[in-house]
Amino acid sequence: MVKSLRGMNDILSEDYERFTYFINTATAVAQKYGFHFIETPLLEETALFKRSVGESSDIVGKEMYQFTDKGNNDVCLRPEGTAGVVRAFIQKKLDKAGGIHRFFYHGSMFRYERPQKGRLRQFHQFGVESFGVGSVYEDATMIMMVADILKACGIGYKLQLNSLGDQNCMPQYRDSLVSFIESVEDEICEDCKRRKSTNPIRVLDCKNEKCQSLYTKAPKLINSLCENCESDFTKLKKILSDNDIEYEIDTNLVRGLDYYSKTAFEFVSDDIGSQSAIAGGGRYDRLVEFLDGRPTPAVGFAMGIERLMELIIMPESKRNGYYLGAMDEDAIDIIIKLTHNKRNSEKAVCDFKAKNLKNHLKGADKINAQFCCVIGTNEIKDGTIWVKDLEAKSEKVILLKDF
Ligand code: HAM
Repeated sequence: MVKSLRGMNDILSEDYERFTYFINTATAVAQKYGFHFIETPLLEETALFKRSVGESSDIVGKEMYQFTDKGNNDVCLRPEGTAGVVRAFIQKKLDKAGGIHRFFYHGSMFRYERPQKGRLRQFHQFGVESFGVGSVYEDATMIMMVADILKACGIGYKLQLNSLGDQNCMPQYRDSLVSFIESVEDEICEDCKRRKSTNPIRVLDCKNEKCQSLYTKAPKLINSLCENCESDFTKLKKILSDNDIEYEIDTNLVRGLDYYSKTAFEFVSDDIGSQSAIAGGGRYDRLVEFLDGRPTPAVGFAMGIERLMELIIMPESKRNGYYLGAMDEDAIDIIIKLTHNKRNSEKAVCDFKAKNLKNHLKGADKINAQFCCVIGTNEIKDGTIWVKDLEAKSEKVILLKDF
């Protein structure tokens, strides 16, 4: 038997209900914030991710589904959504047009990671990208939007916050961090030795316990922010407090993608095991320019839908719509016509086989219909239909013309 690939899941039945419920809820919130839908291709040139997410990141270095297509192009399945949206933004010349452009999207992302609970190779994100607003109010707005989506889904969280500085303060900090790393180089893991030359701040994110304990003494970027980054970070914290959004500062939060500057944030849940990050994002003011666009400030986030599906509190599902069935072969044509008419305004599902009443009631229950409507020999004779309201638990026989 051919099975799905490791780390790639089918989504159906109850899972599908959770999946669509989350997307509909998040979409409604994003629209309230004035964001518009954008769809970008699943397949992009590999260079797009190398130049944005960064060659030194695990995502690009180890986890891409990369191949040469029949036209000899180096392509890959998107590991995340931001790079494609930025490419589309530049390609449509919105950078040159100026102004504010705000998008949301959802869809599959692909990372060749080691699958485990909450970590898939094909997973789904709901994401948001905002272009053209340099003010820290937009960073706060992003965080509020995640908080609103989580609240609407009944999901509790912890918000972790950091500032990664900008081109003024980051290089200086990087130098002092490299000096620190050199002072403990004999004791750190091989990955961190490599990170020292490729992207030193990534060491702060190392999962190795020995490294982690060494880095508690590392210089903290948050203590070396330039005036502008410092004042933006202070402002952000105030806006969040003013709006009752609790946060904790995590000076080791560096995110796994290279494009961030200034604000970086992650929402985590204590209720889903080790893969606890349910959303992550931040500011990426240099990325449009790195991808050959006109310099444009930008900020965004993405949420991991599979992880959220574990946590969503679903509203009680109410019975709705009609189930129609025949107890006699001769009634099937009538049932099909009635079902077709009902569908103008309601959910209506019919069974094409003549069955006894008990089986029709089971069928109605299975699709969570409110009304089970059945025609047998008596009803054919009288021009009527038997209707049971499964919610109110009442039944009656009505004339077909009144149905
Ligand atoms: P990210 O932190 O790599 O950020 O991913 C965002 C979310 O996707 C994570 O918090 C997690 O919930 C989910 N996720 C990531 N990898 C997996 C996986 N292997 N299996 C299941 N869920 C996963 C980004 O992708 C950025 N593009 C976010 C962003 C948008 N930043 C600015 N704009």
